[in-house]
Amino acid sequence: MKRFIITGGAGFIGSAVCRYLVKEKQVEVLNLDKLTYAGVPESLKEIEDSERYRFEQVDVCNQVTVASLFADFQPDAVMHLAAESHVDRSIDGPSAFMETNIMGTYTMLECAREYWLSLPEDLSVPESESPNSKPQTPNRSNFRFHHISTDEVYGSLGAAGLFEETTSYDPRSPYSASKASSDHLVKAWFHTYGLPVVITNCSNNYGPYHFPEKLIPLVILNALDEKPLPIYGKGDNIRDWLYVEDHAKALVNVVEKGRLGETYNVGGRNERTNLEVVETICEILDELRPRESGMYKDLITFVADRPGHDARYAIDATKLETELGWKAEENFETGIRRTIQWYLANKWWWSPLREGRYSGERLGKA
Ligand SMILES: NC(=O)c1ccc[n+]([C@@H]2O[C@H](COP(=O)([O-])OP(=O)(O)OC[C@H]3O[C@@H](n4cnc5c(N)ncnc54)[C@H](O)[C@@H]3O)[C@@H](O)[C@H]2O)c1
Repeated sequence: MKRFIITGGAGFIGSAVCRYLVKEKQVEVLNLDKLTYAGVPESLKEIEDSERYRFEQVDVCNQVTVASLFADFQPDAVMHLAAESHVDRSIDGPSAFMETNIMGTYTMLECAREYWLSLPEDLSVPESESPNSKPQTPNRSNFRFHHISTDEVYGSLGAAGLFEETTSYDPRSPYSASKASSDHLVKAWFHTYGLPVVITNCSNNYGPYHFPEKLIPLVILNALDEKPLPIYGKGDNIRDWLYVEDHAKALVNVVEKGRLGETYNVGGRNERTNLEVVETICEILDELRPRESGMYKDLITFVADRPGHDARYAIDATKLETELGWKAEENFETGIRRTIQWYLANKWWWSPLREGRYSGERLGKA
């Protein structure tokens, strides 16, 4: 049985990765999460009683504690997702982004390097020579450090073109600049120390257990509350949307099969303007939960744009698709319907978050 450390596993994507690993991959998971405002332990309800799941509340910047957890758990792989992730919050208060996204990644790399150096060499005989010989695991050659990043490091596209793995970095927000910094650190630890790393850069995710501050859950929940549906600027900014469970599968595919030192872009090939996204949500809600009078799109309200709002992101995921055989299973129409159905059925999850931690106020106006 394999053992994976997941950082940020109480967050939106991290919890999807934990659920997938424990339920479908029979992997033993240690989830390290500080439980910031974005950490929601209830997202792990489906696996919290599994003997293959363990949680530790810890800050990834805390080198002493993280190092002792590495030594105790003896992971085969680390999937590093812990981050401050909301662009608007990075505009209001960049400090936590620098601390967690840059220094937290540095700390994780150093803990991983120390642990990796303590592992035995792989002394197993090649399978061709001895079919029954099994490598000792973990060992120095099969350990992996997987850094999870964003397409926002590449900056903003015009009307044409796609982000490729070779696209130059050009981050524009404090969030994307901090993620770009962390990507550079991971590459440096590969080239300088030989730490066995893989990196993924993914487009916008959506799906169940998405914290209500992000566009899609905010619009669904504001609509259900009969509140305005805010759209920044003219709503013409374009994002490439990926269903979170497809992302979780891509990540596990890369940590298991990705080539060392390589970057893989992950994307859904589902470009939509923000206005199209909101209108689609309104149409599905009109069908599934009609208002007493009027249509949900009547609640759409255009508000002042986000400062430095990137115009368009779009991912070329060819490398991941052809080299590792991954492909998104959901398109935007099927994924958004599943997402809306999930929010309609799981008020127990989002209602305390809307009442306590974030009730929909505008963030990031600078
Ligand atoms: N959401 C997206 O669309 C998207 C797209 C591409 C890449 N990513 C990347 O994927 C990762 C996960 O994103 P998400 O949307 O799930 O984020 P999220 O904000 O939902 O979750 C982040 C998690 O990290 C934890 N955390 C924050 N600071 C920490 C610290 N110092 N120590 C330990 N834990 C800490 C939080 O408690 C939370 O559980 C991030 O690295 C993000 O940059 C996100």
